[in-house]
Amino acid sequence: MIVAANFKTHMTRQGTREYLDELSRFVAARERDDTVMVFPPATALECGSTGVLVGAQNAYATRNGAFTGEIGLEQLEEFEIRTILIGHSERRHVLGESQEDIVHKCNFFKEQGFRIIYCIGEPIEIRESGSDALMEYLERQLEGIDLGYEQLIVAYEPVWAIGTGLTPSTDDILLIHNALKKIVKRPLLYGGSVKPENAREIMALANVDGVLVGGASLNIDDFTSIIQSTR
Ligand code: PGA
Repeated sequence: MIVAANFKTHMTRQGTREYLDELSRFVAARERDDTVMVFPPATALECGSTGVLVGAQNAYATRNGAFTGEIGLEQLEEFEIRTILIGHSERRHVLGESQEDIVHKCNFFKEQGFRIIYCIGEPIEIRESGSDALMEYLERQLEGIDLGYEQLIVAYEPVWAIGTGLTPSTDDILLIHNALKKIVKRPLLYGGSVKPENAREIMALANVDGVLVGGASLNIDDFTSIIQSTR
C-alpha cells in the first residue's frame, strides 16, 4: 500500500529533517513493502532520506525561466526529486489552477518521467447533487490525463473532507473507488481527514490502495500509526 504525507505550508527544514530521520528508522524496522512518501514544503526538499520517498507539493511546468515565485525542473533535479503532487484541491480552489493548467502540468512532468500523484475530488454541492453528478464531475477532472501512464497514482479526495474531520462513509468510499477503478487502472488513494482512528477501516476497503494524509501527518506518532494500519 501507499501512505503519503502532505505537509502543505507546515514544518521547517529543520523539523522536516528530524521527522524524516525518525520516519526512516521506523520504516527500516518494519519489514513491510508499503511505499511511504512525504511531501514537505519546497524549502525542505533537500532533506533526503532512506526508505521514504520525498516529493514536491507543486512545481511549475518548466525547466527554468521567468516565473517569479515558482520552482521548476532544474530546482527539483538538484534535490533528485522525481515525485510530484498535481491537482490538489487547494491548488485548484484556493490558488486558482484551472483543469487546463493542471493537465498541462501533468503532461510536462509525465514527459520528464515523474511519479505523479494526481488528485481529484468534488465540492460539497456536487456531492449533494447525487451520484451521477458526482461521477461526472470526477470524470471531468480526469479528462486530458493519460490514465495509462505507468508512473501515475490517483488520489480521490473529496474537497469537503479535507481538513474538516468529516469523511464519507466507508460504503461511499467503496462505491466511488469501485467506480473509479473501472476508469483508472492505476493505484488509487483516498484522502480527506484520514487519521489513526479511521485509517485501518479505510485501507481495508477493496480498491483503496493507500491514503494521502494532511493534518494527521504532521504528528509523527499519528503518521506512523496510520502506516501500521495498512492491510
Ligand atoms: P487532511 O488533508 O488529511 O488534513 O484532510 C488531506 C489532503 O489535503 O491531502
